[in-house]
Parts: sequence; C-alpha cells; structure tokens
Amino acid sequence: MPGTCVIGLQWGDEAKGKIVDLLTEQHEIVVRYQGGANAGHTVVAHGQTYKLSLIPSGILNPRVQCVVTGGVVVNPASLLGEIDGLTSRGVKCDQNLLISDRAHVIFPWHIAEDKLLDKDASGGEAIGTTLRGIGPCYRDKVGRTYAIRLGDLYRDGFRAKLEHIVAHKNTAIAALATGSTFEALDAAQIFDEYSKLAARLKPHVGDTTAYLFDAVDAQKKILFEGAQGALLDIDHGTFPYVTSSNSSGVGISSGSGVPARHLDQVIGVIKAYTSRVGGGPFPTELNDDLGQHIRDRGNEYGTVTRRPRRCGWFDAVAVRYSARLSGVHKLAVMLLDVLSEMDEIKICTAYEINGRQVTQFPSHVDDLRIAKPVYETVPGWKTDITGVRKFADLPAAARAYLDRLGQHLGRPIEIASVGPDRAQTILS
Ligand code: GDP
Ligand code: IMO
Ligand code: MG
Repeated sequence: MPGTCVIGLQWGDEAKGKIVDLLTEQHEIVVRYQGGANAGHTVVAHGQTYKLSLIPSGILNPRVQCVVTGGVVVNPASLLGEIDGLTSRGVKCDQNLLISDRAHVIFPWHIAEDKLLDKDASGGEAIGTTLRGIGPCYRDKVGRTYAIRLGDLYRDGFRAKLEHIVAHKNTAIAALATGSTFEALDAAQIFDEYSKLAARLKPHVGDTTAYLFDAVDAQKKILFEGAQGALLDIDHGTFPYVTSSNSSGVGISSGSGVPARHLDQVIGVIKAYTSRVGGGPFPTELNDDLGQHIRDRGNEYGTVTRRPRRCGWFDAVAVRYSARLSGVHKLAVMLLDVLSEMDEIKICTAYEINGRQVTQFPSHVDDLRIAKPVYETVPGWKTDITGVRKFADLPAAARAYLDRLGQHLGRPIEIASVGPDRAQTILS
C-alpha cells in the first residue's frame, strides 16, 4: 500500500519539514493537503536552508511530483513568490508542482478580516493568527456564498462573481473596521491582478484528486505532509486557539480525496519538549530562564512570522491524545540536542484539574487553562549529542529519556533528530 503520512503531534513546528525531506527519497509523490502559507517548514541540506510555506517539502528532489490538493487555501501572489524564490535558487519548480483547481483562493479581504477579527477569542486572549487570511478563507469556503476556488479564476463568471463578493465585503469590512481606517476594495483592480496571477499559475493547475486516484491505482508511493500540528486541529484541537483546518491525521482524506484505507503508515513528529506560537493554554509552559534557554538553544522564533515561540516541557498527556487521534504508528523525536545542557528534564504525565488528577486531555479549553502539570523528573545528559548517528551511541540518560517518552506514548520511537541538518538524524 502506498501512503505514508507525516503529522505534527503538538502545536506545530515539530520539524515536520526535516522528516518529509528525509522520507522524500523513498517516495514518488509528496502532497500538501490542508492549511496554507501559515505553515513554515524548514529543510537544511548540504549547508543550504530552505523555508517552505505552501509548496511541499519534497520539491527539493526534482524526481518527485509535488501536489497541493483542494483542502489547501492558496494565496496566488505568495505561491508565485515561493515558486520564484525556489527557482532562483536552482530548485526545479515547473511540471513537478501540481495545484488543485478545487483549492480555495485567499483574497485581500481575507487578510483584512484576519487582522480585524484576531483581537480576542471568546472574549479573552487573541488567537494570534499568522495574519495570512487562512481562517477567513476557510470560513468563506464553508459558507459557500462568498468563496472563489482556483478553477473559478479561469471561468467566464469570475469577474461577475468577484464584483458581487467585493460589494458585500466592502460593507462587511467597513462595519468591522469601526474606529480604524479602511480603504474600500476595488473589484476591477483585484480582477486585473488575480487574472495575471492566474495566467502565470495555469501550467500548475489541474485536478489533483483524479491525479492521486491514478497514482493510488498504480501503487505509487505517496507521502502526505501535514501542516501545523494535531493540537491545532479545528475539530479536535484546543478550540478556539486552533487553525481553521483538520491538521491532525483525520484531515488527510478530506483534504486530499485519498480514502483512509490507502494511508498505511502514520509517522508522528514531536519535539523533545513543547513549543507553541500564538495564544491559547499551554500547561507545561516555562515562563522563566529555563523557557528562555530552550528558546535560544532551539532557535524558537517563528519560521513564518519570526514571533518568539513559547517553550516548555514535554506534555505526554497532550501527545498521547494527539497520537491516538492521528492513528500514529511510530514516532520521530526532534530537537533532542536542545535539551543537552539540562541537569534534569521533566515530562508531564498527568494534569491536576480542580484537585483531581486526570490523564485524559480535556475537551474544553477552560479546563486546560487551569490544568496543573504533574511531572516525572529524569536526569539530563549534559553531553553534546549533535554528532551522534546511532541510538546505541547516545548517552544512557538520553536513551532513557527517549524510552520513557515511548512508554508514555505507547508507540516506538524510530527516528531521533540531534540537529537541523539532514545528516543529523538517528534512524533505528
Ligand atoms: P515544521 O513547521 O514542523 O517543519 O518546523 P519548523 O521548520 O517551523 O521548525 C523546526 C526548526 O527546528 C527549524 O528551524 C529546523 O531547522 C530546526 N530543527 C529541525 N530538527 C532539529 C534538531 O534536531 N535540532 C535542532 N537544534 N534544530 C532542529
Ligand atoms: P507549521 O506547519 C505553528 C498557529 C498560529 C495561531 C493559530 C491560528 O509550520 O507547523 P492561523 O494563521 O492558522 O489562523 O493561526 O495557529 N499556527 C501555527 N503554529 N506552526 C504552524 O505551521 C502554524 N500555523 C498556524 O500561530 O496560533
Ligand atoms: Mg513551522
């Protein structure tokens, strides 16, 4: 069976890009199926660093076909910017990149709405979105009336549809923008701009669902590259502090059109600790020097927005939940080297909520907000591990830490990463 899936099991930035790049070698097709340019996936190979946003991380291998399916939301200008950036660095980005005509298109009003609406979620803390218009575009997709898909840009009805939507959005955004200045959107200008962008994108646009059906029938090896992390899933994450797509394993079929029975191997990617960018509860967060130490050692600043990421200890309650949710078979533990200078390391094994110990991840954000982590403490290794390439060569304390994580999560750890470079990887 052909399908391997890479899913982040925390709140994003687990180093999925590095794992996808490593696995690309053994696959023929790499697929992005949800999210959009809110993702920032880093690949470091042969001394070069690439930051992929919407384009699958497999693009660095010219032998591989990259596919962006209908579950993704596309900003044509930023996609073309990414294509141009890669092409100027000598990365092949032509017929090896196919984009679905079903993908929904991000327009300037989505970005304006994202900025105006991300003030507070449920009357409290802001979500802290990436301000790329992701949520508003998905909202219009589900609402249907004001949505435009990539395939619509090539149809006669595009201009009339755009004019109708812009008239509505100008009224809606003016109402939202009370107190701040809002420059009305100009349908004619947007039509010209998007028509030009669509013409440039045309060679890439097609029916990715049909393409993937044929690929499955031909037993091709397909790698599905999840964006964000399972705890940011719109239905199963820490709502409302989530993204607007199914970023856990459950989103692969709906986003790509490939039935679940073809997805035979799910690799869950986790950091050796936890990070989160944006708002929302984070029980194991360290708001102290230790948190800053992890941020500095792990270079924990957003790939897309450069925002400092919040850092804390590994949360086994949250990841046990997200690993089950995503049907994970095996685990890749990333950034293990970041913990190398610690005297001791903590793992959250339960929460205390209103005086009761629980090991089940709460379904309501208010319970997660008051959850106090219950920790197990293990010794650190205090040795540089960035040059280690075999599990057997890791310090005993590092091996014991990985074993403990595997026991808590009930899944084998088959990959460990000890540095950003492709070569700094331990495979079982
Ligand atoms: P993604 O969104 O899940 O692909 O992750 P990001 O690219 O946003 O963030 C992961 C960061 O960690 C990137 O800067 C990677 O280059 C870096 N990285 C990946 N693996 C390791 C590792 O094992 N150790 C260290 N120190 N950095 C790593
Ligand atoms: P990758 O694929 C980390 C977070 C944002 C915010 C919330 C909603 O690189 O792991 P959105 O713009 O999606 O409406 O923002 O989700 N977020 C991410 N955090 N990594 C990401 O992607 C993220 N994509 C979105 O910070 O809290
Ligand atoms: Mg990222």
